[in-house]
Amino acid sequence: MSAEPLEIHLEEQDLGRSLRDDVRTGLTAEEKWLPPKWFYDARGSELFEEITRLPEYYPTRAERAVLAERAATIAELTGAKTLIELGSGSSEKTRLLLDAFTRRGGLGTFVPLDVSVSALRQSTAEIAVDYPGLRVRGIVGDFTRHLDRLPTGGRRLVLFLGGTIGNLLPAERAGFLAAMRAALEPGDWLLIGTDLVKDPAVVVPAYDDAAGVTAEFNRNVLRVVNRELGADFDPEGFAHVALWDPRREWIEMRLRARRPMRVRVLDLAVAFAEGEELRTEVSAKFRPEGIAAELGAARFAAHDFWTDPDGLFGVTLARAG
Ligand code: SAH
Ligand code: AVI
Repeated sequence: MSAEPLEIHLEEQDLGRSLRDDVRTGLTAEEKWLPPKWFYDARGSELFEEITRLPEYYPTRAERAVLAERAATIAELTGAKTLIELGSGSSEKTRLLLDAFTRRGGLGTFVPLDVSVSALRQSTAEIAVDYPGLRVRGIVGDFTRHLDRLPTGGRRLVLFLGGTIGNLLPAERAGFLAAMRAALEPGDWLLIGTDLVKDPAVVVPAYDDAAGVTAEFNRNVLRVVNRELGADFDPEGFAHVALWDPRREWIEMRLRARRPMRVRVLDLAVAFAEGEELRTEVSAKFRPEGIAAELGAARFAAHDFWTDPDGLFGVTLARAG
C-alpha cells in the first residue's frame, strides 16, 4: 500500500512565522538561545541520522536494544490499533514495534508526526512499502502545538522515542505531558524513551564526537536561519560547545562566537562579542523516579520501565489514567 499524502498542519507560512518569533525572542534575550526544532531541515535530519551511527552516540543503540527485547511484550500488553509516533524522524527503531505488531495482528494505522517534511516523506514511503496492509498517515506538525490533531478512536499507543522529551525545558515538558494526556482517553498508552543520568565522561563525547558530525548538526541551525530568513550568520565563525550541567543534569549545546560579529536577521543587528555563546539545545538526562513523577503529575501511570543491559537508556510504558 502506498502512504497517504502527508497531512500538513504546519504550513510554510506558519513555520516562517514561528521561526521569526523564535529568532526575535531568542536572539534579543540577555543569554541568546534558539529552540532545537530548527535543526531539522533536510540536511539537519540527515546529520541526525549520521549522529545515530557514531561510535560515541550511545542513545540510539541502547534504545534499540530495549525495543528489540520488549517489542513483543509491548504489542501484547497494549493491543494497540493505532500507533502514533511523535518526532518520528526516520522511524528506524519503530520498525521493531511494527514487526511485533504485525506478528500479533490487529494494528491498523501508523501515524508518524514530525516537523521535518523530508524525513516524514521518506519514512512514510518506505514503511508503506515494507508493511503492506498498514495504513500510513504522516502528519507534518509540531508536537508542542498540534497534539489535539491526533487521530482519535481505537486503542492508541503513542511513541515518543530517542530521548527527544529531554530536548524540552522542564516547564515545556510538563506542558507537553499535560497536553498529551488531554489528547488521550483513559486506557490509551504512551511509550517514552529517556536517556539516563550517567558519568559525564560517557555523555559529553556523545555530543562532541571526534568526527565533528554533531558540530555540523549544531551549526545547521544557523544555515536554516540564513536560508529561511535571509540572515548573514557565518556558521564557521562559531565553535561547537557541549557542556554538562551537573545541577540540572542536562547537556547544553551552544555555539561560541570565535570573534566579534554583527549578524543581520529580520530587522535586527545582533551583536556577538568574542566568546559569547548561543544556546541551541538542552538534552536532559533522567532518573527513573523523576520520570515516574513527571508522568504521574500528568495523570499517566507508569506500567513498566525497562533499560538496556548497560543501564544507559530507559523506556517507560505508561497508561493514561
Ligand atoms: N524518534 C527518532 C528521531 C529523533 S530526532 C529517533 O529516536 O531516532 C528528533 C526528531 O523530532 C526529528 O525528526 C525532528 O524533526 C523532530 N522534532 C523536533 N522538534 C519537534 C517538534 N517540536 N515537533 C515535531 N517534531 C519535532
Ligand atoms: C533528538 N534528540 C534526542 C537528540 C539528543 O540526543 O538530545 C538530538 C541531538 N543533539 C545532539 N546530538 C543529538
